[in-house]
Amino acid sequence: KANPRLRKVMASLTTHLHDFCRENEITVDEYMAGLDLIISAGKWSTEQRNEMLLMTDILGLESLIDEITYTLAGEAADAPTATAILGPFWRKDAPKLKMGDSIVKKDMQGSDHASMHGRILDSETGKPIKNAEIDIWHTGPNGLYEQQDPDQPDMNLRGRFFTGPDGAYELYCLKPTSYPIPNDGPAGKLLGLLDRHPMRPAHIHFIVSAEGYKPLTTQIFDRKDEHIGNDSVFAVKESLVVDFLPKEGDSKAKSDLRYDFKLVGY
Ligand code: DHB
Ligand code: FE
Repeated sequence: KANPRLRKVMASLTTHLHDFCRENEITVDEYMAGLDLIISAGKWSTEQRNEMLLMTDILGLESLIDEITYTLAGEAADAPTATAILGPFWRKDAPKLKMGDSIVKKDMQGSDHASMHGRILDSETGKPIKNAEIDIWHTGPNGLYEQQDPDQPDMNLRGRFFTGPDGAYELYCLKPTSYPIPNDGPAGKLLGLLDRHPMRPAHIHFIVSAEGYKPLTTQIFDRKDEHIGNDSVFAVKESLVVDFLPKEGDSKAKSDLRYDFKLVGY
């Protein structure tokens, strides 16, 4: 027996696809050209490179679905931390680090080190959450994630931190850099055909999780970034835009960022 949700969603998808073809009078040649682009995105995809995800992301699908999921969950009331898309570069089993450690394994020219700290809180009670895990990842100053860049050590600029009873976290990372999404493949080709740029504003990714709470997938964005208003994958939300402040008296960092994450209990 067909799953009712699947049946309903597929009927709706079919209706919209048919309407789309009718409305735009799609020809056989256009249809085949579109299929070729999708097939080539499939062929480009590897474990390291999900070209189909890139392709749907530049159409705003992952960000739209994130927004729908977030709104449907009815989370706006207690202002928990907003979610943002996962993107294609998360890796499982990032190194477990101690509070105060740095995720920068290799000195890289071009970005200030930043001290990032704050607390993991219950969005409803405001109480700290202990044993919460913060999984963080970002690119090097060259705009490449570690797995895209042979010059970075394995698991560079990634780490997992675990809070104590005070729910506090403290780590060193780099002040992030804006960069183009991988644009040497079909997604880049499509952006080019549409006269669109591939840039994402400087951001840091997180998955924050704790027992009894809904895992939070999100990103924070540097307010000063020139691309903050036109992210190529539409992930920016106002509450996730942050200000890096100058840091004094810390030989390990020139920038400071305080940020609290507020999780929703089950
Ligand atoms: C995408 C997301 C990212 O965070 C990134 O660094 C590159 C691409 C994306 O949604 O396609
Ligand atoms: Fe990213």
